[in-house]
Amino acid sequence: MEQHHRGHWGSNLGFLMATIGAAVGLGNIWAFPYKMGMNGGFAFLLVYLVMAVLVGFPIMLTELAIGRKVGGSVLVSYHAVGGGFGTFIGGLAMLSAFLILSFYTVLGAYCVEYVCLNFAELLGVANLSNVSGAQSFADMLTNQPLAVLFTFLVIAACFLIIRGGIKDGIEKFNKVGMPALAIMLVIVIIRAVTLPGAADGIKFMLTPNFEPLKTNFLGVLSAAGGQVFFSLSLAMGITVTYGSYLRKEESLVKNSLIIIISDTCVAFMAGLAVLPAAFALGGENAELAGPKLLFITLQDVFNSMGSFGPVFGILFYLFVTLAAITSTIALIEVLVTFTLDHRRKQGKQSNRTVVVLVICLIIMAEAALVAADGLGSNGLWIPFQDTGRALGGTWLDFMDFISEGVAMPVGALLMIFLVWKIRPSTIREEATAAGRVYPPFLYTFYRFCIYVAAPLGMIMILVGQLQSFFAPLS
Ligand code: PHE
Repeated sequence: MEQHHRGHWGSNLGFLMATIGAAVGLGNIWAFPYKMGMNGGFAFLLVYLVMAVLVGFPIMLTELAIGRKVGGSVLVSYHAVGGGFGTFIGGLAMLSAFLILSFYTVLGAYCVEYVCLNFAELLGVANLSNVSGAQSFADMLTNQPLAVLFTFLVIAACFLIIRGGIKDGIEKFNKVGMPALAIMLVIVIIRAVTLPGAADGIKFMLTPNFEPLKTNFLGVLSAAGGQVFFSLSLAMGITVTYGSYLRKEESLVKNSLIIIISDTCVAFMAGLAVLPAAFALGGENAELAGPKLLFITLQDVFNSMGSFGPVFGILFYLFVTLAAITSTIALIEVLVTFTLDHRRKQGKQSNRTVVVLVICLIIMAEAALVAADGLGSNGLWIPFQDTGRALGGTWLDFMDFISEGVAMPVGALLMIFLVWKIRPSTIREEATAAGRVYPPFLYTFYRFCIYVAAPLGMIMILVGQLQSFFAPLS
């Protein structure tokens, strides 16, 4: 396939901003800090870094290499290197992207609702400080028309960005959005760590405790590995798709490392922003993970801050909205690039705007279901509901189970086997395109990861995911 028909990123920096934007998301903000605190603080961070190097790095490098080598959508790229087996892997990745969109957009919508609520409070037309975060969130979940409307707004914003194309839409947006995100994060951290009682939150996150490693080593490994994997947005076609627009002269190894380091730094910094604030208000009894941390505990923190509360509320929820939107754009682009490449192969002309519009409408349909479900608040029927297991808890859990729980880890494992089949040297060839030279130990290390560390890690992650989804609902 001729790459120049599809275009490229305008610059390597633009590619990096977009890919880091895809990686940085809700997982960095509501999962990483909490998992770190629960699994041994600094001890967990060490395990996380090891898993990032042994599993995250080789998989990211492989995805970038396959995408750039073929220069096609995730399906075209995997098919070109792996035939029918490759097509299956590409299909799993697209399925994951599609299903994750059903709830990621709704979570983004809640963030936008909170931006608006805090703004209304600032203008004096809301009365947030007399309402608990729990009540605000419950009202949000049960107001189905409003949830659907805000989900629509999030998807509409993504439509407007993606329609501009890789360079003039996605890259442009991320080049402004990511620095803005970093600035907002720093301001929020400064406010959070200077709150009275903030030190306990920092202690919760950072205190080194090697006990969990001794008592539950495999559990910690699988928690850290799963987090690395989800946080880097691997195995859902994003990295292959974004890589397919990368120029041959750019370094795949350097780019992979920059993406992984940046994503980890943002996760760590998000911890410094959210945990001190949560502890300052609620101590150890506050909800410290997942949607409750983001939408209940932290809103309570803003409520308690007095007249500046809504300002920080707006800033914080804008930050989270941006993080969610840059990931959502990437997920949608996986499907857009697939459709455009598919039609091009059939010799058909496509209008990008029309393709993006149709895909956004289909996503709106599945997201409306998750929005209407309101995290299980509205009595909608859910598959596996009667089993009393986590996967049947809410529509979000169900979609998450198929995507994050099964399709992503299985897809990544199969992709590793695909590299066995096509040989790691194929990936080396792509990484050393345009005359780039790497020290020989790097290839030895890559082979070790692909043949030993990454498959073992992926199996552990898969088992960990299944265990968590089949656990009884608490
Ligand atoms: N990497 C994102 C995060 O950390 C999650 C995500 C996964 C986003 C898959 C898009 C696709 O939140």
